[in-house]
Amino acid sequence: MQRLINILKAGFDFLFSYVYDMWRYWHHSQAFARFRSRITARAYLLITVHSLEKGLALQDRKPGFGKAKCSELLVDARRFQQKFGPDPICQYVAEVIGSVLDFHASTGDMDPALVARLQAFKETLCPIAKAYDASGGLRIIRKQEIAASLPPDAYQFFALRSSVRQFAEGKIPEEIIREAVRIAQRAPSACNRQSCRLHYSTDPDVIAKTVLFQDGAGGFGERAAAVFIVTSELGAFNHAGERNQGYVDGGIFSMTFALGLHALGYGTCFLNWCATAREDQEFRRAFKIPPSELIVALLVGGCLRDEFAVARSPRLPVDEVMCRL
Ligand SMILES: Cc1cc2nc3c(=O)[nH]c(=O)nc-3n(C[C@H](O)[C@H](O)[C@H](O)COP(=O)(O)O)c2cc1C
Repeated sequence: MQRLINILKAGFDFLFSYVYDMWRYWHHSQAFARFRSRITARAYLLITVHSLEKGLALQDRKPGFGKAKCSELLVDARRFQQKFGPDPICQYVAEVIGSVLDFHASTGDMDPALVARLQAFKETLCPIAKAYDASGGLRIIRKQEIAASLPPDAYQFFALRSSVRQFAEGKIPEEIIREAVRIAQRAPSACNRQSCRLHYSTDPDVIAKTVLFQDGAGGFGERAAAVFIVTSELGAFNHAGERNQGYVDGGIFSMTFALGLHALGYGTCFLNWCATAREDQEFRRAFKIPPSELIVALLVGGCLRDEFAVARSPRLPVDEVMCRL
């Protein structure tokens, strides 16, 4: 009897959690309302504008490519402005369309009507805040610049990052967290939609309260100097096929953030966020995580001791991981 009750309880947890996930995606993604909010509309514009920008970055660019998309984008960007007012995304749209039209001009395939529409759109743009980078088009990277920036031993750089569960006294300065976020922002994301957000605290009470919601931080979490919650904004995603994209983008962002702190000389440990719907609801209520954000990962971080022990956590043989197609 008890076994049956346990199975039914687990079954209900599964069902409730899947329905909860589906409802949240349905309600907060842009699948059914692309211009519902500034966030969904920005991401919607990004999907198209990114396809143009990446078209520019191809080795063999098609002459006259993207005219229909430029035209469609100008309509959508105007709709965006009418609904949400000025936004840096509009400058970026104008920049990218400008680069595409410059390319058309360079191949003798200019569309004067599109050029005039872009000009008219540009005249509607307002100055944007300094913090935004709305530059669009291409940037050139030199192989030599990459070579000059590499660590002398690539493997060692990554192998010396371990999950740290004993920290030195001391805080992680705000500027360091900021720099690690700047590094994490270099992580790739689907169509550059940049859905990830980092909620964090260096307050010991908040750290202690956060790790209480999690079952893998016993004995070290509360001694960390900071706690980080990586989320992904569901409004950035579109159709059903993208329903798990927030976890992918969030995972890449989280790892880049952890490597960023490592590169800056601080330690981190990921904490699993394996939560049922009910736990997820309680957590987001306690920390005021917006309902439209998916909680992807938790991390704690702190200062490194001069010497410290970490779990060995041996890795599988490379041959077991490499699967030739
Ligand atoms: C998504 C994720 C969740 C994790 N959760 C926990 C956790 O709850 N508690 C913990 O002590 N370590 C946690 N870890 C750390 C892993 O145990 C650790 O990454 C793994 O053993 C490899 O060791 P290394 O990070 O030292 O290389 C987690 C790691 C990941 C990526």
